[in-house]
Amino acid sequence: MIRAAITAVGGYVPENIVTNFDLEKIIETTDEWITTRTGIKQRHLENNPDKATSDMCVEAVKLLCQKRGISPEEIDLLICGTITPDMVFPATANVICAKLGAKNAWGYDLGAACSGFIYSLVTGSQFIETGRYKKVVVVGADMMSRIIDYTDRATCVIFGDGAGAVLLEPTTEEVGIMDFVLHADGNGATHLHMKAGGSAKPASAETVQNKQHYVYQEGQPVFKHAVYNMSEVSARIMERNKLKSENIQWLAAHQANKRIIDATAERMGIGKDKVMMNIERYGNTTAGTIPLLLWDYEKQLKKGDTIIISAFGGGFTWGSIYLKWAYN
Ligand code: UT7
Repeated sequence: MIRAAITAVGGYVPENIVTNFDLEKIIETTDEWITTRTGIKQRHLENNPDKATSDMCVEAVKLLCQKRGISPEEIDLLICGTITPDMVFPATANVICAKLGAKNAWGYDLGAACSGFIYSLVTGSQFIETGRYKKVVVVGADMMSRIIDYTDRATCVIFGDGAGAVLLEPTTEEVGIMDFVLHADGNGATHLHMKAGGSAKPASAETVQNKQHYVYQEGQPVFKHAVYNMSEVSARIMERNKLKSENIQWLAAHQANKRIIDATAERMGIGKDKVMMNIERYGNTTAGTIPLLLWDYEKQLKKGDTIIISAFGGGFTWGSIYLKWAYN
């Protein structure tokens, strides 16, 4: 049986750091509130107006190619999970490939908000498992600062900018993507969406005036659904693969709020030392969080390590992946 294994990881965050103390100067908030409610201390926000999501992705994919010793021309397919594409069209995946010189790759964007990376990883893995492709790049990236209202204290403190990428290659060893559970419930859109800029409400002077091109989030209902669903799906993937907490080396959970991650780990019965965490440095980078975790923790991962990846986000979309790490 051919499985899809992650064989390299790359990541990128913009240089500019905005701390909670910096935010205290522009909105009515405190470092104490943000830290205790979310676990976030700072976020990286792109302050160069000439840069876009694709530029972060290019850096992440370049790094990944260098680490694996491959040329971008060897990439067969590139999938980009994002809700902050450079433009409505063409796909950011196409822009990334052009900037990289990945001229033998085709690609597309996948919009599943905070679950964008896990949806894309599962989708990309199918092209490997069929034997059709040898090198699939999966990117998760969002430049959230471009769709956040920095006068809205309930949302602007949470989000950050960042991109991560992984390379998928075929293996016949007992490593790679072992199982996945994915879900969606479009009724969740009421609580988390962007009101304008799509075909339902095209951009106009009025939509701009009404700040409808920013993220609209009702924090509490999203929080409740996130805690329930991310915990439930993580516990379920363990059960159906007969995994006990002692069989799991790592939880890589979407970094939206430290309290949601802690609740998920508790439901899975795993200790804090097994929970990957970088929310304090990056905030919620939407589709970027999980590949950025893998990038940050790569040196600590060993071949054969069992990793449960879990995410929840806009849509609603959510799910878990059971992954066995493929290299030292
Ligand atoms: O990744 C995509 C999915 N998104 C998520 O998973 C986010 C899920 N939601 C959350 O993480 C949390 O709901 C938030 C972090 C967004 C908010 O935390 P909360 O504990 O749910 O706070 P809240 O919205 O219930 O607000 C509590 C209070 C309110 O004041 P009153 O009405 O009690 O006087 C807010 O106005 O905190 C106030 N507040 C703030 N205070 C200081 C809201 N934002 C801030 C702020 N600083 N930045």
